[in-house]
This record gives sequence, structure tokens and C-alpha cells, in this order.
Amino acid sequence: MKKNRAIIGCQWGDEGKGKIVDLLAADADVIARFQGGANAGHTICVDHKKYILHLIPAGIIQPGKICYIGNGVVLDPLAFKEELAFLTSQGIDYRNRLFVSPATNLVLPYHKLIDAVEEESRGTASLGTTQRGIGPAYVDKVARHGIRVADLFSPDRLRKRLEFQRVLKARYLEGSVDPRADLERTYQELQELAVTLRPMMIDVSLALYRAHREGKTILFEGAQGSMLDVDLGTYPFATSSNTTIGGALTGLGIGPKMIDEVVGVVKAYTTRVGAGPFPTELVDAVGEQLRTIGDEYGATTGRPRRTGWLDLVALRHAVRINGVESLAITKLDVLDQFDEIKVCTHYELHGERQGEVPLDLAELATVKPVYTSMPGWQCDTTGTTSFAKLPEKARSYLEYIARDLEVRICLVSTGAKREETILV
Ligand code: IMP
Repeated sequence: MKKNRAIIGCQWGDEGKGKIVDLLAADADVIARFQGGANAGHTICVDHKKYILHLIPAGIIQPGKICYIGNGVVLDPLAFKEELAFLTSQGIDYRNRLFVSPATNLVLPYHKLIDAVEEESRGTASLGTTQRGIGPAYVDKVARHGIRVADLFSPDRLRKRLEFQRVLKARYLEGSVDPRADLERTYQELQELAVTLRPMMIDVSLALYRAHREGKTILFEGAQGSMLDVDLGTYPFATSSNTTIGGALTGLGIGPKMIDEVVGVVKAYTTRVGAGPFPTELVDAVGEQLRTIGDEYGATTGRPRRTGWLDLVALRHAVRINGVESLAITKLDVLDQFDEIKVCTHYELHGERQGEVPLDLAELATVKPVYTSMPGWQCDTTGTTSFAKLPEKARSYLEYIARDLEVRICLVSTGAKREETILV
């Protein structure tokens, strides 16, 4: 029986969820994205072509699949339009198979301006956001003065709601010469975008319910990673949405029983972009080597990613809070050349060992990683498609991870391309 799977990042994002969604989408009828916005960067490589998507579910690359953007997403209509144009330029037809919830909040130009101003005013304590306006848009949503997709189709209501922003955000907008502060211009742009969005409107919650009742298979596409969850991640160095499994329920309007399996996506080592504690970070030649071999540069911002060894403490947290049952391990081939591979099994805090992530950020910032060391396999695993054909030391590495986390491994990725995959 085919399962409805949720794809959740278990680290600080950039685990390679795009490839996993693309692969598993082949077995699904419907793909639904439930949180985040254009801060995400999902890379999919098919037939020598590379697609980077930010807002539109990565499932769109698979022909004929139905894709939904749920109410938990914050949708930047300008970025969305650009992405639609990109799909068209690549010969991908999204008509009649890409739908958006009218309850989705919008990220508007002033949100990006506010994101930039707030980052600046945080000074040395800046979060290192993607500056895509994500935080300010979720603030508006929760404060209940956000503008939602449905508002686009009622020009008077849209104008009123935009005018109210002028009052609320006076300290950012008044007297600003930044074009992003120009609400009249935003209004005009939105009028045009409404025409594009109108045929895509659907009650996503209801559509998913019906699809489920009809026996269709659904793939729930997460963005960012569990350690960036606004409640359960390394707050305040987090994004502004629930990147963990609960986000799928509220971000799409579905019940928990619609999800049969939570697949956790884990990179074979760790990376992080932006500021905040990162216990296994390597600021040395080994870290540089991981960055170079793994091409660890942000798909959205191009920023170099911070790199480090695998952190089992953070992964135990992610497995527990998401109810992860199986793992998709990505970028195993990046470790091919290392003669020694380390895995953090515990943190040392105030001279004591502990196996769980402390929730106090100040404590997390001071923990020291306790490592176990493993011999590297030092041979090329790129493109390996069978678990049995992996070198024994690579298999031991994977088995060690699965044993510690008490989950099974369902997939190992050994390269960027679709076919460079081991289905376990
Ligand atoms: P924001 O989501 O743009 O507000 O950024 C908040 C934090 O989340 C920053 O550290 C970002 O670098 C990080 N972040 C946001 N989206 C992603 C992502 O898709 N991958 C990795 N990090 C992300």
C-alpha cells in the first residue's frame, strides 16, 4: 500500500529535501507544501538540468502531479510570479495542477524592507535571515492584520488593508524613499498578480480531504529544518514557522491520521546558514573541505554555509519531536575522501555529559561536542545505487546512525541526480 509521507528536515535546513520530494513525488498523486516562504531553496537535478524552487512545491517537476500551497505558507506574489515564469521557461506546464489556499498570508515588499531594517538594528545580534520578509509576514499573520490571498480579489478590501499598514508600520514607511515602502505601487502590482492567482484558488484543506477519501497518495513537503522551528528550534536563531510535523496539520488543515509516515531528511554531516549556536561547527580546514566538496552555498542567498560533523544529539531531538520513523540520508558521497569521520554523540555541559539538546539557548551556545571517531571509507561512492555495494565502512556509518536514532534508513543519496540514489 502506498503511504502518505511527510518530508521533514531534521537539521538546520538544506538537508537536500528537494531531491527527496522529487523522488518520492513519483509515487504520489498530490504534493502539498505547508509552511515557510521564498526563504527556502529546493534544488532538483534531472537530466543535466538544475531547478531551484523557493515557493512552489518541488513535486511540480514530476509531470502531471497536483501541487498545493497551504495556508501555513507565506506567499510572496512577486517571487511566485517569477517562479511561474521560470517553470514556463523550462517547459514545465503548471496549469490546472498548481493551487493555492485563499487563506495563505502574503509577503509584501514592505515585509522585506522591515526584515532588512530589523536585521540592521539587531547589530551584532542579527539572526542572519534570508531577508525575504518571512518574519515580518508571520508577525502580521499572528497579529491578525496580515493580507491574505483572498484579499487580492476584493480591490476595496485590499486597499483598506494596505492603508491600515501605513498606520501600523509608519516608523518604517513614513518618509522612506525605498520603493518597497510605496504602498500605492504594491497595490497596483497586486492588482496584476490577482489575475495570475485567481484560477489557482482552492480550499486546500478540502481538496486534500477529498483526495485522501478517493485513495490518492499525498506527499507533504516541509521546508527549512527542525532546528529552525520557531517553537522547538534554536530560538531566536530560527525561522518564523513550524517546520516540524505539527506545521503540516495546521498549515494545510488536515488531521494527523492523514499522515502515514514521517520521513526525516538528514545530511550525512551538518550545515547551517545564518547565525546561532552550532555545536559541531568546524571552523578549520576540515570544515572548509566539507563546504568545497559539498558545494555548501545557499540556494536562495548564495551565502557560504557553516559546516560541521553529524550531530546525533540534535538529530535525536528532531526524531522525537517529529515522530520520524525513517530516514533519508543525503550527500553521503561528500564524505568519501575523509580518512576520519566524527559523529557527535553527546554534549558536555558544565562538565557533565548529556544526550539531549538544552532548551536554553545560552546553554546550547556553550556546550562542547563529544565525538566518536570512525574510519573513513576513502573511495568513490558517487552514483552508488545499492546498499550492498557501498563500502563496508560507509555501511557501518549509516548503520551506526540508524541504531542510535532507533529508526530505519529508507533512502541514501549518493549524488545530486535523481538516479544517484539507494532505495533501501
Ligand atoms: P528567515 O527564515 O529568512 O527569517 O531566516 C531565519 C533563519 O533561518 C536564518 O538563519 C536563515 O539562514 C535560516 N533559513 C531560512 N530558510 C532557510 C532554508 O531554506 N535553509 C536553510 N536555512 C534557512
